Amino acid sequence: MDLIELAKRVAEIVKSSDYVVAFTGAGVSAESGVPTFRGRGGLWKRFKPEELATPEAFRRNPKLVWEWYKWRMEIIYNAKPNPAHIVLAKMEKKGLLKALITQNVDGLHQRACSKNVVELHGNIWRVKCTSCDYKGKLDKPPNVVPPKCPNCDSLLRPDVVWFGEPLPKSAWEKAVVEASIANVMIVVGTSGVVMPAGMLPWITKKKGGKVIEVNIEESAITPIADIFVKSRAGEFFSLLGKELKIM
Ligand code: OAD
Repeated sequence: MDLIELAKRVAEIVKSSDYVVAFTGAGVSAESGVPTFRGRGGLWKRFKPEELATPEAFRRNPKLVWEWYKWRMEIIYNAKPNPAHIVLAKMEKKGLLKALITQNVDGLHQRACSKNVVELHGNIWRVKCTSCDYKGKLDKPPNVVPPKCPNCDSLLRPDVVWFGEPLPKSAWEKAVVEASIANVMIVVGTSGVVMPAGMLPWITKKKGGKVIEVNIEESAITPIADIFVKSRAGEFFSLLGKELKIM
């Protein structure tokens, strides 16, 4: 089936389903110029997660960790939502999508005007104090790293989930509820290997829902996908937006 036929088929399923949710990963932002973690050009090919994305790494060298986050913030600051973010937001506005669960920390779904977004791994623009209860938001990359808490002068850290840390409880609980009640989960641009997030499509499937996957290559989710769309996310969602008459 070619991409246009697949878009027609997915559009029909979306229109005839009561509760559609989306689950996204780094691949949805790839066409916006934000690097993915795995695969060609992936961040974990060039950097070691244990040196940059663990609580131990931060304790050892907060400046290095913050420099890496600052570099990623600069990329994200200059990136724009692509047609995949935009069509997902328009689908929600039209009542065709009930919730969007993301592993991304880039905030591009919200910039595209998605409202019901569940962020499983935090958000790169939020910061929290390593000592007191202070939580804040940055609107651009910090000039000086590591930034300090305005209340107690301790180090601030990015409010993201690092390896070895639990997911925010309320986000995870909401994601499990959404995955459980979904008739259809559209999975976009994730390798599906990071747990527990990667379990969500399996929950939808087990509860009798359909899984539709959009990815440039097969992933850990593909074996349970009812429809696998081998495509770049932005390209496919442009076609889907046309079929749904929202683009
Ligand atoms: P990955 O980098 O593991 O996977 C990205 C996926 O996107 C791969 O399956 C690619 O094939 C696919 N992809 C790349 N470009 C694409 C495009 N233009 N259109 C569609 N698909 C494309 O990213 P995630 O699955 O999001 O965790 O990674 C999960 C977590 O691992 C991240 O949230 C992060 C990382 O360590 C934390 O930081 C806690």
